[in-house]
Amino acid sequence: MNVLVVGGGGREHAICAALKKSKDIDTLYCAPGNGGISDIAVCLPVKATDIDGMIKAARDNNVGFVVVAPDDPLALGMVDAFEAAGIPAFGPRKNAAIIESSKAFSKNLMTKYSIPTAAFKTFTDMDAALAYIDEVGAPIVVKADGLALGKGVVVAQTVEEAKNAVYEMMHDGKFGASGSTVVIEEFMTGPEVTVLCFTDGKTIKPMLSSQDHKRAYDGDEGPNTGGMGAICPTPNYTSEIAARCEKEIFLPTLNALRAEGRPFKGVIYFGLMLTPNGPKVVEYNARFGDPETQPILSMLETDLFEIFRAVVEERLDKIDIKWKKGAACCVVLASGGYPVKYDKGYEITGLDKVSAGITVYHAGTEKKDGKYYTSGGRVLGVTAVSDTLASAISAAYEGLKPISFEKMHYRKDIGAKLI
Ligand code: AMP
Ligand code: GLY
Repeated sequence: MNVLVVGGGGREHAICAALKKSKDIDTLYCAPGNGGISDIAVCLPVKATDIDGMIKAARDNNVGFVVVAPDDPLALGMVDAFEAAGIPAFGPRKNAAIIESSKAFSKNLMTKYSIPTAAFKTFTDMDAALAYIDEVGAPIVVKADGLALGKGVVVAQTVEEAKNAVYEMMHDGKFGASGSTVVIEEFMTGPEVTVLCFTDGKTIKPMLSSQDHKRAYDGDEGPNTGGMGAICPTPNYTSEIAARCEKEIFLPTLNALRAEGRPFKGVIYFGLMLTPNGPKVVEYNARFGDPETQPILSMLETDLFEIFRAVVEERLDKIDIKWKKGAACCVVLASGGYPVKYDKGYEITGLDKVSAGITVYHAGTEKKDGKYYTSGGRVLGVTAVSDTLASAISAAYEGLKPISFEKMHYRKDIGAKLI
């Protein structure tokens, strides 16, 4: 069967690399893909949000199964459109992808079904939002309702900072329509853990836990990014906490979505905070995380295509998902200045000198005449698997040494707090 992966970042490279191992796939396509993906899949020049173009590309290439990885085509209903076109697609339908595309929706869902999360209020009126901040004080968290590339969240230490965030979202329209509704919520404390789960709407199977590093600079300083590196599994996620999360969060979320007539098939991303009062949901995403997917899928032993088909065909309960022992670490090499302002088009050198045990997932790269060039903020994800978390981290940092490009920036402390 021919398979098409929609997207073109590090996550999609990791998905393609895992699918590439399946015997059941004839030709693997990716749209739009990137420089590294083009080495293992046929890249098609279709934008990830172009639903009609994607369906045409799938038909033209006799594709029998599609994987929709990024948030925006999911929110636009690309999976629904493929289903209507008679092509099975992995990912939630639009009415379930809303758990990511509307924070107000997901907060209301959690309240209705008693799923633990930070206390919150939703506002469409700016003056009411500003008055509420005066009433409750800081620290407090301000979130744009819609998709904002992971940047629509302000953890404000002062009332003034919180009010500025509201003003920028609701008055200046910093995030466009995504900011016309804001969610203001209680500030939580504790370690953060990400758990991605496969679900077919009836059964939910957690993957290994992971931890992203969202800030741009060492010591969790600087602006929020899409993610500067991730490790898996995280030692903070003990088996006791895992059992509690399954019972109090994962299953109730799945059941809530079904009860609301929005059955979820695909990957649910649970962003959790292990607070002194137990695990609570920080956010849901309707897809694999980036860069969490890079270390997680590096640890997967089971055929990923087999799992994807079991999800779409609602027989996930019949699949045994196996993971490697040990741990994995992915360090993101970014363009200097990311996430604010950065240049592209620099040649990347040294990729051919990376040692054999290291996997370099490409994110923002382009291949021209056999050479790779930077084409985005996050450029590469250097990933190592090893027996322990400490050795995986040092292997990833050792592994990235030969690689360089102009103004390359990466965090030196991925996973450091966890060992
Ligand atoms: P989100 O996009 O909702 O995951 O938020 C981005 C980051 O902001 C999270 O990873 C947390 O570090 C932080 N954050 C979000 N909500 C809260 C909260 N209620 N309390 C403390 N930190 C938060
Ligand atoms: N790494 C965070 C995300 O994928 O949303």
